Parts: sequence; structure tokens; C-alpha cells
Amino acid sequence: MIRMGVLASGRGSNLQSLLDAERGGELAAETVVVCADRPDAPALLRARERAKPGLFLDPKSGRARLGPEVEREFVSVLEAHDVQWVVLAGFFRIVGAPLLDAFPNRVVNIHPSLLPSFPGLHAPRQALEAGVRVSGCTVHLVDAGVDRGPILAQRVVEVEARDTEAELSARILDQEHQLLVATMHRISTVGFRLEGRRVHWNDDV
Ligand code: GRF
Repeated sequence: MIRMGVLASGRGSNLQSLLDAERGGELAAETVVVCADRPDAPALLRARERAKPGLFLDPKSGRARLGPEVEREFVSVLEAHDVQWVVLAGFFRIVGAPLLDAFPNRVVNIHPSLLPSFPGLHAPRQALEAGVRVSGCTVHLVDAGVDRGPILAQRVVEVEARDTEAELSARILDQEHQLLVATMHRISTVGFRLEGRRVHWNDDV
């Protein structure tokens, strides 16, 4: 049973899927603390509703990249809760060396596209504008880049002819919820090794 720390900035529906799966006994991983960079992030309420610590950590700047001091504060909180894996679940900040060195290859991100296509903001909108016929979502290890790093799992979502951004986003989000839970469960129960950028699950044949 791995101990997860979840970082979120807003809605927190991916966090909710982890909490629900944990409660339903479908996830061999426990969320032990949730940290947000906004005091009003609904993710914090979702954590507290399940009696989990939901902590606001002041980013002290509007910049996309967390400052190293602030990032060290996140690390202290995560370490104080004996976190083993960090999940960025809708955390709208770029993390760097303090977090990545404290949790080497143990920081996971969920992104609403089939990476390496459409990194960054508004991935479903980018997919529609590019005219691709399939998009989806990706769970990957976080490295020093943005929305890159070894890919753990992906799900494909078809783009329908008349899709709006909201419709495509909603279908992708539904898959994100399932994929994030399945991937964290697999990390906890199966594990993987890295060969360059490739992830080999221990039960791969
Ligand atoms: C998700 O689409 C996730 O892939 C992206 O940000 C969104 C967060 O949604 N990184 P939520 O806060 O989990 O509801």
C-alpha cells in the first residue's frame, strides 16, 4: 500500500476519483495529504470531507514555476506525512529540482492529451484545432520538462465530428479518472522499471 501526496490547484475531480477508489477498496494506495496552491481550491474540501489533511501552501507569486523556497515547503509537508509518491492532479504549477530530487521518478502527472502531442494548457482545444481524429489522456512521470517524462499509461478517446471543447474535455476527463486510479494501483501492486524513457511494467510479457 503506497502513501500518496496529491497536489492540486482547483476542481479536484481526479483527486476525488482516487479518494473514491480508495474508499471502495479498488485502489491499493492511500492519499495521506492534499496540498493546494490556492486557499479556495475545491480539492482541499474534497480532502477534508474524507478526513484527510488538506493544506494550502502559499506560492507567494503568480508565476507558473514554483519558487525553490516554496517548493521546499511542499517537500517538507509531504515528507512530514511519509509520502512515497506524489501525484500532480490538476496542479497548475511547474515543479523543479526540490520536489523531483526529493521524490526521484516518483512524481506522477495526469494530462488530457496523448503526449507528446498537445502539452501545456487547453489540450482538448489544441486537439480540436489540429483536427486529430483521436486524442486521450496520459499518466506520466514528471521530469524537468513540462508535460513530458516517461509515459506510464495512456487511454485513447475518439474525437467526434461535432465535438465542442467542453464535450471532448468531458469524455477525456472521464477516462482520466479511470486511468489515474488504474495506474496508481498498478504502481502499488506491480511496479515498473525504467529503460531510458521507456517504462517496463514488472508484469509485461
Ligand atoms: C485535468 O484535465 C488534468 O488532466 C489536468 O488538469 C485537469 C484537472 O482536473 N492536468 P481536476 O482538478 O482533477 O478536476
